[in-house]
Amino acid sequence: MPKIISAKTKESIEVKEGEKIRDACEKLGVPFCCTNGLCGTCMIDIIEGEKNLSELTESEIDMERDKKHRLGCQCKIKNGDVKISF
Ligand code: FES
Repeated sequence: MPKIISAKTKESIEVKEGEKIRDACEKLGVPFCCTNGLCGTCMIDIIEGEKNLSELTESEIDMERDKKHRLGCQCKIKNGDVKISF
C-alpha cells in the first residue's frame, strides 16, 4: 500500500490508492484548518515522490502551489510512497 513518510521522524502511514492524504498528514503533524483548499494552513513540501500524487487542484493553483509544494487537504495518492517535510 502507498505510504506518506515523515522526513523528520521517518514514521510512515499507509494510505489506500486514490485516497486523500489528509488523515495521514495530520497524524504526522501537519496542521489543518479549513480542509477545503481555502486557508493554506496545510502547506507541505514534497521531498520525494511528487509524481505519486494527484494533479494540482484549482485551489492549489490559486495559491501558487506546485508539484513540490502542495496543500495536504487537496492531494490524493496514486501509488508509491511520498515523503513530506514534516
Ligand atoms: S486546511 Fe485549509 S487549505 Fe488545507
